[in-house]
Amino acid sequence: MLAGAAGAGKSTWAERLWSPSQVFARDWARLAVSDRPDDVSPDVRADADEVLATIVRLRLRRGLPTAVDSTGASESRLQRFRELGRACGARCGLLIVDTPVSVCLARQTHRPRLEQVPESDVRGQHAIVADLIRRHAAGNPAPWDTVRIVSGVTP
Ligand SMILES: Nc1ncnc2c1ncn2[C@@H]1O[C@H](COP(=O)(O)OP(=O)(O)OP(=O)(O)O)[C@@H](O)[C@H]1O
Ligand SMILES: [Mg+2]
Repeated sequence: MLAGAAGAGKSTWAERLWSPSQVFARDWARLAVSDRPDDVSPDVRADADEVLATIVRLRLRRGLPTAVDSTGASESRLQRFRELGRACGARCGLLIVDTPVSVCLARQTHRPRLEQVPESDVRGQHAIVADLIRRHAAGNPAPWDTVRIVSGVTP
């Protein structure tokens, strides 16, 4: 699972680490179930996660490396995908992209309007990710097989 606010650089990292057929973004899944890039309603998000969960399960059954790229890093959502991965016998890692909120916000302005994420959402996502990083730095035992924190700013 990737974690990072909108604009943090998750997809850029995913591109570095995996081939395109191994990465599944919730943005893509939302579009797949709604045809609307700007539809972030709870039911579309939930259906997008159903699509992602199905793909993850079918791929992990074949032992294929699979990355889920999305801004949704609530503990319950991470847990859902972690448990799904474990149930499929996979090693489950969390890749956190650590980027200052000011950078995430500045990057929104370069995007097409429909793809821009409102400032309050970016700040909310960033706070959730910052909390994940804080807990990791404090030495809290992570429920993941691996946790890697990378910079979304440096090359
Ligand atoms: N390390 C970096 N240095 C400079 N620019 C970067 C870096 N990583 C990403 N960017 C740029 O920042 C922008 C956002 O990156 P990216 O699309 O990877 O973010 P994201 O976390 O996937 O965002 P979203 O959640 O909205 O999909 C892109 O224009 C990308 O080129
Ligand atoms: Mg992305």
